[in-house]
Amino acid sequence: MNSIKVFAPATVANVACGFDVMGFAVEGIGDEIIVKKTNAPGLRVTAIHGCEGLPTEPEKNVATVAVQALLNALTEKPDQGFEFEITKKVSGGSGLGSSASSSSAAVYAVNKLLGDPFSDKELVRFAMEGERAASGLPHADNVAPSLLGGFTLVRSYDPLDVIELDYPKELYVSVVHPQIEVKTSDSKRILRRQIELKDAIKQWGNVGGLVAGLAKGDYELIGRSLVDVVAEPTRSMLIPLFSEVKNSAMELGALGCSISGSGPSIFALSKDLSTAEIVSQKFKEIYSSNDIDANVYVSPINAKGAEVIE
Ligand code: HSE
Repeated sequence: MNSIKVFAPATVANVACGFDVMGFAVEGIGDEIIVKKTNAPGLRVTAIHGCEGLPTEPEKNVATVAVQALLNALTEKPDQGFEFEITKKVSGGSGLGSSASSSSAAVYAVNKLLGDPFSDKELVRFAMEGERAASGLPHADNVAPSLLGGFTLVRSYDPLDVIELDYPKELYVSVVHPQIEVKTSDSKRILRRQIELKDAIKQWGNVGGLVAGLAKGDYELIGRSLVDVVAEPTRSMLIPLFSEVKNSAMELGALGCSISGSGPSIFALSKDLSTAEIVSQKFKEIYSSNDIDANVYVSPINAKGAEVIE
């Protein structure tokens, strides 16, 4: 096999209480990448479609940075190189794991072209290097679900320990992406460096509650646990109409609603498709009645993660 086309989905990181440790994959939006083997060694980005201004230099592009980390970890180095054509369908600065989709798709594709020297879970640490290039911080809460699908928990970063969580298949997500950009690096910078013990207690109680609620299919428990006292209170100030959007989701029957990743996208989880659709329509109405363009998406949880599409 000399060429491959891979899709890696967009993701919702943090999932309210799980700052930097929890995430899930979304269906229908994500990045596509065509990777070709070349006789000449080295990595080359030949084209980036769907987004302007991203670097094509291999030492700066998140896809090639991630692939270089994979190649560095091989004991036997391949004598050929790789070319990358990237089609971005997740906008940068959206909070939907744009850089993670590209780096996950790239390492997944190259691993396949090399005959799967690494397991999908092992690819997480390489894709994280793309996140380091994008935001300065190698977090895994977007790349893990983009690669593996479903809900994931980063139990530990050192050593890296990613857990694939059980979850009820009837969960649907509504996402609204107001058309303003919030850089992950800025959104990280504004966070408080220290939290009070009483807040830490609430947060880890909710993380445990969310994991248990997902495993048991206990929607009430999932809803009670979708609470973030660490990042949301500060970050929500960067997102226009956040409180109105969140309140509307809860009034319409969503289980919970919070910021997707570092924002500005906002997600709500619902236990059926019709509620998720009503919630997303309301999200759209709130932004359009305030003259802010916004894209909305409704999807089940993407169970597959990265996949070969050609
Ligand atoms: N956990 C990261 C953050 C996700 O909240 O900054 C970035 O998408």
